[in-house]
Amino acid sequence: MGINVVSADDFAAVSAKMVGFAIIELQKKLKRNVNLVLATGHTMVGFLDELSKVKGIDWKRVNAFHLDEYKGLDIEHPCSYAYFLTENLFSKVDIPEKNIHLISEIGKKDYMNILRRKGRADITMLGIGMDGHLAFNEPPNYSGFDSKMQEVKLTKETIDSNIDLYPEIKENPYAITMGMADIMESKKLFFLANKAKKAHIVKKALTGPVTEEVPASILQKHENVEIILDKAAGALVK
Ligand code: GLP
Repeated sequence: MGINVVSADDFAAVSAKMVGFAIIELQKKLKRNVNLVLATGHTMVGFLDELSKVKGIDWKRVNAFHLDEYKGLDIEHPCSYAYFLTENLFSKVDIPEKNIHLISEIGKKDYMNILRRKGRADITMLGIGMDGHLAFNEPPNYSGFDSKMQEVKLTKETIDSNIDLYPEIKENPYAITMGMADIMESKKLFFLANKAKKAHIVKKALTGPVTEEVPASILQKHENVEIILDKAAGALVK
């Protein structure tokens, strides 16, 4: 597990440079497209913008997938994660529409199979929720390490954290998310966290016991994970 702690000002650009480099290196090696699984949320906004500016990525040779989506929100809904990714990345790069794989269009039954048929995730982006969730695998009900793509009911804390981006979340506290086992299938994981409010849960995830009560602690078991923290989020990690 590589842990990189950078200044808040450099967080987005350094993350984009590292992920961009990984995509470019894979594009040199692979004959097929690179399978990139994207995450959403506040942490990803600056990163996605910087990633769109990285020179040398051939976006025509990237298949985009994403971790999770609110239940029932299609791509036209301005609070959907599909819309978020279109706004923050897809509209800024030269990625063909056929390479974009959205949960709301494909559905949870087939989503992982399509990704596996294309060769599995090469790179998966991850943030962390305040309760340690990855994607939307909330403890204790949905964070089994063997969990597969599933529908979940969001906790109050997660609803509160996301209400600024999705004001109606209280009326629709449901989402479809890749499971923990699905995430662990990715060949490489990039885990990003910033801001002081994440310091405590980041410490638990990276240095505490590996437990389903802190879903992100599973990262300690993955053989190829790169951690990028700003100084505030990394303050308690030695
Ligand atoms: C949300 C998303 C996660 C994200 C996390 C952190 O609930 N489903 O994929 O990593 O919570 O979000 P933020 O970056 O807004 O703190």
